Amino acid sequence: MSKLFDLSGKTALLTGASKGMGLAMATALAEHGAKVVISARKQEAIDAAVQSINETCGAQLAHGVAANAGYKEALRDLVEETHQRVGPIDIVVGNAGVNPYYGATSEISDKAYEKTMSTNVQSNLWLAQLVVPDMIEKGGGSMMFTSSIGAFKPSEMLGTYGMSKLALIGLVRNLAAEFGPKGVRFNAICPGLIKNRFCP
Ligand SMILES: NC(=O)c1ccc[n+]([C@@H]2O[C@H](COP(=O)([O-])OP(=O)(O)OC[C@H]3O[C@@H](n4cnc5c(N)ncnc54)[C@H](OP(=O)(O)O)[C@@H]3O)[C@@H](O)[C@H]2O)c1
Repeated sequence: MSKLFDLSGKTALLTGASKGMGLAMATALAEHGAKVVISARKQEAIDAAVQSINETCGAQLAHGVAANAGYKEALRDLVEETHQRVGPIDIVVGNAGVNPYYGATSEISDKAYEKTMSTNVQSNLWLAQLVVPDMIEKGGGSMMFTSSIGAFKPSEMLGTYGMSKLALIGLVRNLAAEFGPKGVRFNAICPGLIKNRFCP
C-alpha cells in the first residue's frame, strides 16, 4: 500500500476505467487504500481490470459495474449499484470520453454531435447531480473530470471533440462555484497525447 496519502475508508467511482488512464487512476486510488468501483461498457474488460487492480494492491478493493456513460439511466443504475455494493461515494473520476467523428465541425451529423456532447460533457453533469448529495451529507468530496489539451486550440478535424472538452471545463468551473462552499471540490485534468491502443 502506498504511503503518499491515505484513502482508506473512502469510496471512489470511476467511468471509463477498464483501460488506459482510467484504469491507471483506479489502480492508484486503490493503492492508496480507497475502495474503487470501475465502470466501462464491456464486462469482459471490466472483469480483467478488477482482477488486475486487486492483484496490484493485494486486497479486494475493486468492484466492476458495466455502464455506458452516455446515458442518464445507466449512470443512475451505476450509482445505485455502487451504493448497494460499497456505500456512499467520496470521489468521482468522470473519465469516459468518446470521439465518434473525425472531420470538419461544420459537417458533423446531429447524431455524432449529440454522442460527443452527452458522453464527454453531460454525463459528468449527471454524475454530479447523482453523487453530490452523498458528498454534502459526508461534509465533503472530490469530483474530477478528464478534459484534454484539445480544449485549448481549434482543430480542423477534431474540433467538436475539443469543443466538448472546453465545455467540460466550463461545467467544472460552474459546479465548483456552486458546490465548493459546501465542501465538494471539482477539477478538470487536461492530458496531452497519451499512448493507448489507438496511438501505438
Ligand atoms: N489518450 C489521449 O491521448 C488523451 C488525451 C487527452 C484526453 N484524453 C481523454 O482521456 C480519457 C481516457 O482516454 P484514454 O485514452 O485513457 O482511453 P482508452 O485507453 O481508450 O480507454 C477508454 C476507457 O473508457 C471506456 N469507455 C469508452 N466509451 C465509454 C462510454 N461511452 N461509457 C463508459 N465507458 C466508456 C472504455 O471501455 P469500453 O470500450 O468497454 O467502454 C475504456 O475503459 C477520455 O476522456 C479521453 O477523451 C485522452
